[in-house]
Amino acid sequence: MKKLIVANWKMNPETIADARSLLSRSLAAASKNKSIDFLAAVPAPFLADAVFKKRAKYLAGQNVSWGQNGALTGEFSAKMLYSLGVKYAIVGHSERREYFFENEEIIAKKIRSCFEAGIRPILCLGESTAIRRKGLDLVKIYLKDQLRQIIAGIEHSFIPKIIFVYEPVWAVGAEEPDDPESSAELISHMKSTLNEFFGVPKSKVLYGGSVDSSNIREILAKKPVDGALVGRASIDPAELTKLVKNAKI
Ligand code: PGA
Repeated sequence: MKKLIVANWKMNPETIADARSLLSRSLAAASKNKSIDFLAAVPAPFLADAVFKKRAKYLAGQNVSWGQNGALTGEFSAKMLYSLGVKYAIVGHSERREYFFENEEIIAKKIRSCFEAGIRPILCLGESTAIRRKGLDLVKIYLKDQLRQIIAGIEHSFIPKIIFVYEPVWAVGAEEPDDPESSAELISHMKSTLNEFFGVPKSKVLYGGSVDSSNIREILAKKPVDGALVGRASIDPAELTKLVKNAKI
């Protein structure tokens, strides 16, 4: 199966001209590697641009509201994304949790609104440094708990549509990714939890956190890892070009 690379631009670049150029260089680079699928999660204002709309099938929102419409100033709904041709949205990123106080209950509501609009959520989960220090067994319990809290109330048929990302909070924006051996073990554990509790045998689970051109190959070489969510390395066209080139296993 093809591995999926999701570029998370975060709040970059600063202008529509730079954004158009980054998108075209990213898609040109990604199209040369037939063993990957590629998505770019871009800032919401760019999604409505004509150049972006034409490439909507390669795009994802970085967020989405839990609401459907109405008095929610500053928010945008899953239906609005869908109306632009966008089919994916990141939900539950650790920066949303930290700076915008999103918790499992809010994230679960966002997943439900994606379900209602036909958007596939790219759902990020992962532990803090404090939990990781206590060892992998505790991390496994934590991840199982996060999954159960978020997924429990979700329509069963929708669970296979969710793309999960194991993204340890301490590895985001850090110097080094998680040790690929440990993340592969945790991703396997997430997959068996999804099977055990929700009867979903083949969930897609990516790894995220300090992925770049020098480590992508080793990360993707682990069988349980279905792809990567890439932050910083995705906004430098030369680095992204190298990364997708190295994303061959
Ligand atoms: P990073 O970010 O690759 O810069 O660590 C990953 C992410 O936040 O998704």
